[in-house]
Amino acid sequence: SQRIDGHPYEMIQILEHQRREGNTIGFVPTMGSLHRGHQALVEASRNDGNFTVVSVFVNPAQFGPNEDFDTYPRDNDRDFELATAAGGDLVWYPDVADLYPAEAQTSVLPGDLAAKLCGVSRPQFFPGICTVVLKLLNLVRPHQTYFGEKDFQQLAIIRRMVADFYLNVDVVGCATVREDDGLAMSSRNRYLKPADRDIARTLYRTLQAAKAAFAAGERDATALKTQLTEAWPQGLELDYLAFREPEFLNEVTQLEADTRLFLGAWLRGIRLIDNAAVG
Ligand code: PAJ
Repeated sequence: SQRIDGHPYEMIQILEHQRREGNTIGFVPTMGSLHRGHQALVEASRNDGNFTVVSVFVNPAQFGPNEDFDTYPRDNDRDFELATAAGGDLVWYPDVADLYPAEAQTSVLPGDLAAKLCGVSRPQFFPGICTVVLKLLNLVRPHQTYFGEKDFQQLAIIRRMVADFYLNVDVVGCATVREDDGLAMSSRNRYLKPADRDIARTLYRTLQAAKAAFAAGERDATALKTQLTEAWPQGLELDYLAFREPEFLNEVTQLEADTRLFLGAWLRGIRLIDNAAVG
């Protein structure tokens, strides 16, 4: 596979050639520090028969002033190995100046979907994501693009942006990949100390408890919410625990099979999120 650093010109030439050969392009945008969750997206694109492009770009626009942009883990060589091992054909590492040249002025403003859940505590987050994803999609011009359900709100917002701007790309959602103990894989998990690990698993345990309650006949979202937060552990600061429908992420009072439980929390300042359908 090929590695392209910096300006997209060379990548665009390669993709032009692939299209002329009749190949479809699959695109997996990432912020690097790849793990099996990212690799599952690359594998899905490869299995769909695509020439698969992986971008690795820590997007400054989606980090708040007091967030971890500077310390976000970066390991380009290892990422290349992992992307290639999963079946990636081209790994692209744009520089900040390639995507945000000094003269750039325009950004994407997502609507109400981006103001809820993670958007409450991180108002810059989804506008920054939409802006960079639109730039990336316009440069790569893939037939299909792959996003993880781990970041379900992001997936819903990207689907909305693609529809709202009539982008000619198929958005494919992929199931959350978990560690053996259930913790959703995340680039930030490396910040967790061994002693944090069991507390971090609370998110997964809470999703499992919600599924069990739904299977046992519970349909009242408010009652279940109270039950799930009763024994919340010390040190895990809850940002939100919310039952929502899967398209606009509107609040739900009567649980249905496709209702999703969304969880956001901080553990010693480390951001943790997870979600799952109750049914
Ligand atoms: P990043 O956090 O690197 O994630 C890249 C993609 O991998 C996203 O679609 C995310 O949902 C998916 N992913 C992460 N962990 C996963 C897991 N455990 N199981 C399945 N998929 C998982 O999301 C971003 O980067 C950025 O916001 C980006 C879209 C690249 C824009 O900057």
